[in-house]
Amino acid sequence: MIKKYRFGNPIPTDSVVIDIAPETAPITIFEADLSERRLRYHLDKKDVVYGLGETIRGINKRGWTYDSWNSDDPNHSEDKHSLYASQNFLIIASCNENAKAKKPIGIYVDDPGRVIFDIGYTDIDVFDILFEDFDADVYVIEGESILDIVKQFRHIIGKSYIPPKWAFGFGQCRWSYMTADEIREVVREYKKAGIPLDSVYLDIDYMDHYKDFTINEEAFPDFENFVKEMKDEGIHLVPIIDAGVKVEDGYDIYEEGMKKDYFCKKENGEVLTAAVWPGRSHFPDFLNDDARRWFGDKYKILLDMGIEGFWNDMNEPAIFYTTDHLAEVFDKIDSYKGKNLDIQSFFEFKGTVASIDNNIEDYKRFYHDYKGQKVRHDKVHNIFGYNMTRAAGEAFERICPDKRILMFSRSSYIGAHRYGGVWCGDNLSWWSHILLNLQQMPGLNMSGFVFSGADVGGFGADATEDLVMRWTQLAIFLPLFRNHSAMGTRRQEYYRFKDIQGFKNLVDLRYALIPYIYDTFMNAVENDAMYAMPLSFIYENDERAWNVYDQLFIGDSIMIAPVYTQNAEGRYVYLPEDMKMIRFRSTEDYDEEVLEKGDHYIQTGLNEVAIFIRKGHKLPLAQPAMRVADIDEKNIKEISYLA
Ligand code: GLC
Repeated sequence: MIKKYRFGNPIPTDSVVIDIAPETAPITIFEADLSERRLRYHLDKKDVVYGLGETIRGINKRGWTYDSWNSDDPNHSEDKHSLYASQNFLIIASCNENAKAKKPIGIYVDDPGRVIFDIGYTDIDVFDILFEDFDADVYVIEGESILDIVKQFRHIIGKSYIPPKWAFGFGQCRWSYMTADEIREVVREYKKAGIPLDSVYLDIDYMDHYKDFTINEEAFPDFENFVKEMKDEGIHLVPIIDAGVKVEDGYDIYEEGMKKDYFCKKENGEVLTAAVWPGRSHFPDFLNDDARRWFGDKYKILLDMGIEGFWNDMNEPAIFYTTDHLAEVFDKIDSYKGKNLDIQSFFEFKGTVASIDNNIEDYKRFYHDYKGQKVRHDKVHNIFGYNMTRAAGEAFERICPDKRILMFSRSSYIGAHRYGGVWCGDNLSWWSHILLNLQQMPGLNMSGFVFSGADVGGFGADATEDLVMRWTQLAIFLPLFRNHSAMGTRRQEYYRFKDIQGFKNLVDLRYALIPYIYDTFMNAVENDAMYAMPLSFIYENDERAWNVYDQLFIGDSIMIAPVYTQNAEGRYVYLPEDMKMIRFRSTEDYDEEVLEKGDHYIQTGLNEVAIFIRKGHKLPLAQPAMRVADIDEKNIKEISYLA
């Protein structure tokens, strides 16, 4: 049962697609304090809090404060409070050990502005939701089980996005492959290594001076033919689209946007100028229906060249600086000139420059024309990226309604899950980020983002071969499987490492698993179910299972427990029931062993990956293929664990 409570005058987000009348009686599960702009919930000792989508820290969110404020922050360290997305859906639950009466509760806070979730940070037993303005719709969902609550919630937010099938194949990315020849080389090397590959991503340098929907003709001559050449090889090129439109006379998109008045403006009516990759840029007002439609239609430029997938970036939006703030910073710096800076003014001086990008004040400098109202950006900040994804998704429905187009975004809010997936942004080649990747998945799935994944091997910092290997052993089970790394970091395409065969075996295994992955994905979408979930979502009465935060069920049949520690030759795994372990070295070389419910040390060397099958379930395995399209769906072997 879902109840909606309205506080103040909420700004609509279109995240919920089913009309639910607000309750007239006051909310009971929370203590509402209007003057403090706060909802308070008292947690029981054993309550676990799941959700909040793509955030830092673990699967259980208790013991930290999370700030829903979409942020371009490449340092996903434990001390942070915000990442790129705001998915304000949580479930409070506790182990139902004695089948006692306490039922889980779902909470969705629909507010496009900043919301702080203090989940037992200030007081371990108190969960506070703190609003900047108390204008929000709060949904309270009661259900029989965690999965029941997920299903009810997903039902009201509408069906999740489905990508084309090839998007479940392996994708290689790098910031950036600078020329068509460099991409040809990547494809050639993968082929030589015999490693399956379905897509190569184009990062910002494919564009002419980072101008959206343009091509750098010198580096990518005759782009349309190049797209075809790659397609003939079975490779999909997936270009990036950034939120900022370069300010440049003669650039048609800039000129059109100006003429039609589609860019975000300041209080005084002037267009906001912010710097991102192209230098001075304007932001399309994605919240405005006409502007969103206009920008969406631009994807056709690349679709007409044969492109079938995109990734939307920098759409929090990221702001390196605004010209207005930059001028203020220079004035401030001038004021320090010639002075003897004492320690206080030195830190102030340093802070003035250091806080120039993504500065909170800049998000208060511009406005949207949203549903007939002029709304200051910070009030709707968290739905900006969502509406960029929506621009693309709505356009694809208009332009090619019968075709699935790949779309995923960095920034998101619930609602965007109907138009695209997400990737988890600029992680690092750190062992802890393999675990973070695993832990981000359930929260994302709960809030509708089923097509999701993180940069495999880590984006920033230098990767090592063993880290990329272990990370891949997780990523082969996740819907979006893309290796990506930042400029200046060590190259991490699989063929650059020593044990090419080891990487081939893993990617082969991914392709063999695609029938299972695809069916599990489609089931999660069609039935509002989970794709990747912690053990407690299934074993609600097993207290030990509730304490496992580094294993996942992928659908109903299999459990994974990846190794995420350097130099470890295995790890402890908890089996919530008797299971059959399949330890793969390759799709042909594996051993099977039935293990009893309980804790086990599972030996898995660097070249081994263990999958655990539930009793009465089976794992279908296709013959590996070099492209998803070449998988022979009729020739499937099954490994089963018969009851
Ligand atoms: C952002 C993206 C990253 C991309 C880079 C350059 O940092 O998150 O994936 O490679 O921009 O476009």
